[in-house]
Amino acid sequence: MTLAIIGGSGLTELDGLVISEKKTLITPYGEPSADFVVGSLNGQKIIFLARHGSPHAIAPHKINYRANLWGLKSLGVNKIIAIAAVGGITANMYPTSLVIPNQIIDYTYGREHTLFADDNHAVQHIDFTNPYALKLRATILQAALQKNISVCEYATYACTQGPRLETSAEILRLERDGCDIVGMTGMPEAVLARELNLEYAAIAVVANWAAGKTTGDISMAGILHYLNIGMRAVKSLLEEIVKSNAA
Ligand code: HPA
Repeated sequence: MTLAIIGGSGLTELDGLVISEKKTLITPYGEPSADFVVGSLNGQKIIFLARHGSPHAIAPHKINYRANLWGLKSLGVNKIIAIAAVGGITANMYPTSLVIPNQIIDYTYGREHTLFADDNHAVQHIDFTNPYALKLRATILQAALQKNISVCEYATYACTQGPRLETSAEILRLERDGCDIVGMTGMPEAVLARELNLEYAAIAVVANWAAGKTTGDISMAGILHYLNIGMRAVKSLLEEIVKSNAA
């Protein structure tokens, strides 16, 4: 019964994590993004994985999501909280906000998006009506309440291919589709977790207004600035979640 945290941009390591071991794994799907860092946060065992590698170098479409998820499962993980940087589309999801998405739309292409790809696995059509685990979402929301950290409780995450940001027309289209936030790594991560029967939920940090939602260009400096602020709240939320996960 181990909780894993997958850290995205702005969270390549977790302060406060007392590291006991780093596990290098080669999986049937190849190499994961980085070593799996086994340690304890507030006295509770967790496993941390830097999604983009450590140091941050792997682009969203190049991440070996299958190796990452398979590796976590093989280490005994049963719950995953994914941390992700996103752009805000809906007005109340402004830079620095934390969002706990409840739905996702996949706009990516060409990614290895299933573990049922080879002939030696009988294909299964898994249920994905609610892509994020309801119980784990509830745990996150409860921890936010406990810590008085404000979070947006419902949102549809648009997963785009990247690594470029979107055009303003693309964002208008995502908005018409009902998307509230946009990121590049939510899929196939969420579906692979479901295929492996792992509970999976996400905390998204709004790093910028999505394209066309503000005047001017989106700068990397701006993204990093807002991401840093949001990540402080994420860290304190994670500490509370770890406590309640142990309870
Ligand atoms: N679009 C896609 N992914 C992102 C963005 C964005 O605006 N900001 C951070 N990740």
